[in-house]
Amino acid sequence: MTDVAARLEELRDRGLYRRLRLIEGPQGPRVLLSGREVLLLCSNDYLGLASDQRVREAAAEAALHWGAGAGASRLISGNMQPHRELETRLAAFKGYERALLFGSGYLANSGTIAALAGPGEVVFSDELNHASIIDGCRLARAETAVYRHNDARHLEELLRAATGAPALIVTDGVFSMDGDVAPLPELLELARRYGARLMVDEAHATGAIGPGGRGAVAAAGLSGEVDIVMGTLGKALGSYGAYVCASAETVDYLVNRARSFIFSTAPPPPSIGAARAALDVLEAEPERVERLAANAQLLREALAAEGLTAPASTTQIVPIEIGEAEPTMELCERALERGVFAQGIRPPTVPEGSSRLRFTVMATHEPEDLRRAAHQVGEAAREIGLLKSATIAA
Ligand SMILES: Cc1ncc(COP(=O)(O)O)c(C=O)c1O
Repeated sequence: MTDVAARLEELRDRGLYRRLRLIEGPQGPRVLLSGREVLLLCSNDYLGLASDQRVREAAAEAALHWGAGAGASRLISGNMQPHRELETRLAAFKGYERALLFGSGYLANSGTIAALAGPGEVVFSDELNHASIIDGCRLARAETAVYRHNDARHLEELLRAATGAPALIVTDGVFSMDGDVAPLPELLELARRYGARLMVDEAHATGAIGPGGRGAVAAAGLSGEVDIVMGTLGKALGSYGAYVCASAETVDYLVNRARSFIFSTAPPPPSIGAARAALDVLEAEPERVERLAANAQLLREALAAEGLTAPASTTQIVPIEIGEAEPTMELCERALERGVFAQGIRPPTVPEGSSRLRFTVMATHEPEDLRRAAHQVGEAAREIGLLKSATIAA
């Protein structure tokens, strides 16, 4: 057996084997999966903008006017007017001097962190930060000090004990697998006191929380104060790509030093056109953000009534922790048989022993569908004896 085959077998044995599911139509609150319509409860298209007619048309118009691709990296010949205009819009939306587009959130995090920290310095990272942050820390070749989730006191201990220069404190704004929010005022205070920059990943916060969907930093009243705010275009903004907001000087530095910006093709004009139209919709229709929060609250309550609680969640991400990978995937499949598509999340995406069924809510879900889905998942959990387990009924 080849090495790869053996590794795949091991993944299967541990219940960690993953396979791709195929959606046979556009994204939306309901999607076609293997020929069947199911309620989609695992998309990051939180505001339903990926399939919004205005956003689709903007993508098509940008393709016709500007072309399908940017042809090169921004520093070669790929820097086009739509990129510049979207950066100006994003910086204003977030309350920053400048914004810089990246090809994706993964590229934005990995490139920015690696540019801002290096050997002899320390990056302080929340233990539940996204993989792209973890990989950015690895690429930086700085020391990484991992602090306990949302624990500012532990962070301070690590800052005090650090032997290298504190370069960066980095955190998700809304945690992608838990749906809770980082204690940003405390983190910023520590960053200031110990001479580090604070970087916040707003991938799941932009368009979802804060005034008009401006994110966790804006919700904490810290726009322009937090040094670096990263966000994505591929989640609530319904498109693809990402951006970093910061001072003009920091953005200038990233243009010169962020390798994932320098050595990667500029985002394609249709994605940029779509994101710009999505931002227009978000600014014109802030009630979408309120509907998202109301739907999330409704789902949390409906699941809790079934004995399925998500104690940490205060946002549109509602995870029900099961524990082991296999029962998590069994619940996922049983829910799917009942027409509810929520993804089972296993290590390494979440820590060992904390596999979960993770629901993500959309502003475009109908309340009645959410109530029905919670009941169906409750039935599925009872069917396989999961609701007797203390881990989820607690
Ligand atoms: C917290 C967080 N940061 C960054 C990313 C990466 O963003 P993208 O999907 O645009 O690469 C994700 C998305 O999966 C995320 O959840």
